[in-house]
Amino acid sequence: MPFDNVKLNDGRIIPGIGFGTWKIPRDVAGDQTQQAIEVGFDHIDTAQVYANEEEAGRGLRDSGLKREKVWVTTKWSGVGDKGVRESCLESLQKLGLDYVDLYLIHHPRLCKGDIEGTWAQFELLKKEGLVKSIGVSNFTVDDLKTLLKTAKIKPVVNQILLHPYVVTQQTPLLEFMQEHDIVPEGYSSLIPLTSKPGGPVDKPVQEIADKYKVAPEQVLLAWSRAKGAIVITTSSRKDRLERYLAAGDIKLTDEQVEAIDKAGAKGERDDKRKQKVVGIAKYGMLAALGGWAVLKLVL
Ligand SMILES: NC(=O)c1ccc[n+]([C@@H]2O[C@H](COP(=O)([O-])OP(=O)(O)OC[C@H]3O[C@@H](n4cnc5c(N)ncnc54)[C@H](OP(=O)(O)O)[C@@H]3O)[C@@H](O)[C@H]2O)c1
Repeated sequence: MPFDNVKLNDGRIIPGIGFGTWKIPRDVAGDQTQQAIEVGFDHIDTAQVYANEEEAGRGLRDSGLKREKVWVTTKWSGVGDKGVRESCLESLQKLGLDYVDLYLIHHPRLCKGDIEGTWAQFELLKKEGLVKSIGVSNFTVDDLKTLLKTAKIKPVVNQILLHPYVVTQQTPLLEFMQEHDIVPEGYSSLIPLTSKPGGPVDKPVQEIADKYKVAPEQVLLAWSRAKGAIVITTSSRKDRLERYLAAGDIKLTDEQVEAIDKAGAKGERDDKRKQKVVGIAKYGMLAALGGWAVLKLVL
């Protein structure tokens, strides 16, 4: 069974797991998108800045899946300093679609201090029917508060970094979003495997994987879902994509989620300590160099 669908605050239903096209080279993005759909993904997550919307759109068409059966998200990334509407029309043209299911502000910094005005342009796109739902990405609690002050339409999602090594940092944001009925979309949930192997999260994840006879990546995706998030992930490999979808069946207990959270928080603290030590060492070196320069001048 794949992941459950999720109901958004505008009443629309989004598939609980999506295939992302970030970093996929153009020459393989079409085939990889097609592969994901053939494996069973019905939710594609791309962006203006990924520079492969054209190929993702081709993969979608080549899969033969009907337009209404697939959820397509893309993002305004401010490429070439292009405005919201121009970028949206360009993305639609590249994807070969009349509308996207979800259009996101890729990052609050793109609003250049005018979150309210940018969001008003997103609301217009929705009214025009070019995009069915609107949301944001990488917004903090303060960014969301600013947006909500003047918004006529609430964002349906906030797509955020979500893995165990940022759990302490992201928990207040997740709580705020839950309070305001904004669904988290979690990306890079596999960081403990892809860029931080050997950290404290490995042990509880491996123990759960052994218990359920599943792969560690499946446990991490199940963890992200347990946090209430729509899972946004990717793979070039068919076997992994199949495992990702099957992870929808894994229901972690509160104790298992807590064990992963605890290990993640420890990793977060360790990282902070390391950063502090590096900072102090750098400062010490600079101070020593400065002292040496002064001595040279005096002597
Ligand atoms: N809104 C934003 O700012 C933002 C930022 C980042 C990402 N995203 C979205 O989220 C999507 C996923 O991002 P992500 O790539 O960072 O996510 P991820 O789900 O954390 O990582 C996916 C990668 O994990 C690798 N992988 C899977 N299992 C593994 C294992 N057991 N050991 C080692 N590597 C393993 C896969 O490599 P193989 O291909 O070799 O299987 C794949 O490249 C993106 O495509 C994009 O759509 C959005």
